[in-house]
Amino acid sequence: MATPLGVSASRAAGSKQHGAAAPGLAGRARDAAVFASGVAAAAAVLALLGSASVLELAPRISSPRVAVPAPGPDDGPRTFYDDPELSYAAVGGRRLAGWDAKRAAWLRSRGLAARASPERVVMVSGSQPEPCPGEAGDHFLLRFLKNKLDYCRLHGIELLYNRDALQPAMTGYWAKIPIVRAAMLAHPEAEWVWWVDSDAVFTDMDFSLPLAARYGGRNFVAYGWPDKIARRSWLGINNGVFLLRNCQWSLDLLDEWARMGPAHPEHARWCKVFRAALADKGDDAWCDDQSALVYLLYTNWERLGKKAFIETEYFFQAYWVDVVDRLDGIAARYEAVERRAPPGLRRRHAEREHLRYAAPRNAAVSGAVPGPAGGGVEGWRRPLITHFMGCQPCSGGRNPMYSRESCDDGMRRALGFADDQVLRAYGFRHAAPLNDTVRPLPFDYPGAAPARNG
Ligand SMILES: *[C@@H]1O[C@H](CO)[C@@H](O)[C@H](O)[C@H]1NC(C)=O
Repeated sequence: MATPLGVSASRAAGSKQHGAAAPGLAGRARDAAVFASGVAAAAAVLALLGSASVLELAPRISSPRVAVPAPGPDDGPRTFYDDPELSYAAVGGRRLAGWDAKRAAWLRSRGLAARASPERVVMVSGSQPEPCPGEAGDHFLLRFLKNKLDYCRLHGIELLYNRDALQPAMTGYWAKIPIVRAAMLAHPEAEWVWWVDSDAVFTDMDFSLPLAARYGGRNFVAYGWPDKIARRSWLGINNGVFLLRNCQWSLDLLDEWARMGPAHPEHARWCKVFRAALADKGDDAWCDDQSALVYLLYTNWERLGKKAFIETEYFFQAYWVDVVDRLDGIAARYEAVERRAPPGLRRRHAEREHLRYAAPRNAAVSGAVPGPAGGGVEGWRRPLITHFMGCQPCSGGRNPMYSRESCDDGMRRALGFADDQVLRAYGFRHAAPLNDTVRPLPFDYPGAAPARNG
């Protein structure tokens, strides 16, 4: 089937990689340990060993952060930060050019390898500056944030949560553009910025993004539906979760996208253009950031498509309605696999060894539970992300097509489903899917344990 974006071409890359072990966990742990021991101490050791030994030692340490202490406020070469013309503003500021070279120079000046493995990721999320007006809205946002903290801690990802309107004229969901752009400048060490909407829940704590394996050479990744893309629906691609490589291409995309937004004089004209060009978008519909991005991609695929990747094979983000009713069945299937698996998989372990167990667990379920790693339209694998679009937990302004019960129970079910995966390293699990009471896990769980009633 031909689609304007040619998403089928995106299937070329190997999907076998989804459940692959995150490479370099040991390396990262070692980095952390060396780093914790202190830059000064490590530098002293290197000095004692002399220059010949340093050469021998260098490959083993593999932590340039130690060998080259980061310059402080009073020293070091000038970087892009020292340029008074540098603007953090996504709209109205000076355009940032030559970013790839500037970022590379910064990395060199700090002794950081441009191509680190695993690639560094900063997750960016956020919510409004004011308290939530919706009943329990702030409680839900706290739980959504906790869920992101959990995923990031398990996967060595840094989390930036923003509550400020950096450019107030970029209202509503448009506010993500200024913070994503600013995050790129504030985190030159990060290869990727991963935007995740506040109402998106990580429901597979074992899944690591296939960054190098699947998204190498791509700069933008989002989830899409080929049938909706084919008819140019504004719902063809969901921009509540996306990856942007920290590079000039991405800054240019953000510039182009932001110029269609409410902070720009051309906004009203653009809104007319989207509404005319996109399906499922009424004449009086809200002129939103997703329509702008989708329009940009649909109409410039020749230019942008080489670097954009529309994920269709696994739930890079899933529409919650498609998955919440399956979560209990998914949990039961994973439990059954583990009960039959060799006991080694059920060994208790430190939380920091999570990924070393996630890899064989993924391997065990991939043969026994149908569906792609990261979840998919078919099958019973855990969805990486369950996105509660339309539930509006903060404002309480739910889309009338959903009942309060379906949204609230759905969110609680997904959050509890994720919490159970995390609590396991602490020896507990919820008494039932919608129950906030926890119970201790028996030794060798779920070996001989009877299935939980749910
Ligand atoms: C939650 O589980 C506990 C322990 O099994 C039980 O005592 C309690 O009644 C349950 N709460 C609800 C609301 O079902």
